[in-house]
Amino acid sequence: MLQNDLILRAARGEKTERTPVWLMRQAGRVLPEYREVRAKMGGFIELVKTPEFAAEVTVQPVDILGVDAAIIFSDILVIPEAMGLPYTMVEARGPWFEKTIQSAGDVEKLRIANGDEDLSYVCEAIRQAKKALNDRVPLIGFSGAPWTLLAYMVEGSGSKTFSKAKKFLYTEPKLAHALLEKITQSTINYLKAQVKAGADMLQIFDSWAGVLSPQHYREFALPYISRICNEVHSLVPVTVFAKDAFFIRKELGSINCQTIGLDWTMDIRESRALIGPGKTLQGNADPCLLYSDFEVIKTETEKMLRAFGPDRHIANLGHGLYPDLEKEKVKFFVDTVKNFRHSE
Ligand code: CP3
Repeated sequence: MLQNDLILRAARGEKTERTPVWLMRQAGRVLPEYREVRAKMGGFIELVKTPEFAAEVTVQPVDILGVDAAIIFSDILVIPEAMGLPYTMVEARGPWFEKTIQSAGDVEKLRIANGDEDLSYVCEAIRQAKKALNDRVPLIGFSGAPWTLLAYMVEGSGSKTFSKAKKFLYTEPKLAHALLEKITQSTINYLKAQVKAGADMLQIFDSWAGVLSPQHYREFALPYISRICNEVHSLVPVTVFAKDAFFIRKELGSINCQTIGLDWTMDIRESRALIGPGKTLQGNADPCLLYSDFEVIKTETEKMLRAFGPDRHIANLGHGLYPDLEKEKVKFFVDTVKNFRHSE
């Protein structure tokens, strides 16, 4: 039994004494304590693959920031790697793939990842993090959404436009579907393995949702997310975060997930009207709000809490923390949510 299960209750639509809060990219990024552990390791991927240290940095934000959930320290790119496409993390630049997917032969060669074996290091980190958390708060597991993973596997790196990956959808639609199929099966295996290892909730990150047209999103992204949700939503609550995909909110309202993440460009009341009353909403403060002074952070955060209302809301930012945000401001945002009462 968890001592603090506010996030799980909010996800299921149950009443909570206050709005729960956690932060995307809370592990790593702003904590000096993370950088210390990171410096001991060779690099980011080594840290991800060392369960003892991955578990340690997973728990840090619970101890230091007082958030209502931990998220396992890993990356969405562990799935392409497990399928046969290794990546490196280039300092200050981001992910880079030496091989990319271009042809039918490339898709053919990819394996379907088996969660327990190919990603046993993530499962072990989850088990160790659960032990260290000692039932204080839930642990969130995660994966990338199939489209976002395809985007990196075809593009080979980050990009502003992901035009190579989008070109692939336009010129090789059949191949794109074959690739999405393999990614989807791998992801289902992986998320089920995370739950078996102890994850209490899951989040699917579709970080590059916003570069697709609504038509392409309906063809190449949503059906695969929907299939993943069908497979895991009865195990633990699932959050779908399709960043910048304002156009898909209504359809997200009818897929089998409990929670939908909003970014800061999405109007709260309009999103609720589009999505309907049956889903919990997560978000959606602009991460840059946390560069403001304390007074502005408090006013704007409380405004956000009132707009969402007391039920079916998990407070978060509209995307991940930026590395140069001050830890004190981040903690102040968390405390502002925790101290707020809707009856006030
Ligand atoms: O939320 C958390 O704190 C848990 C850990 C987590 C990381 N990556 C650690 C990380 C999570 C949930 C992710 C997800 C992820 N990874 C996404 C989806 C979320 C989003 O931000 O949209 C994406 C697109 C990636 C791919 C990725 N990983 C990029 C583009 C980069 C480089 C640039 C950057 O954002 O820092 C990473 C590296 C990465 N992943 C770091 C961390 C802590 C920084 C690496 C370092 O410490 O050197």
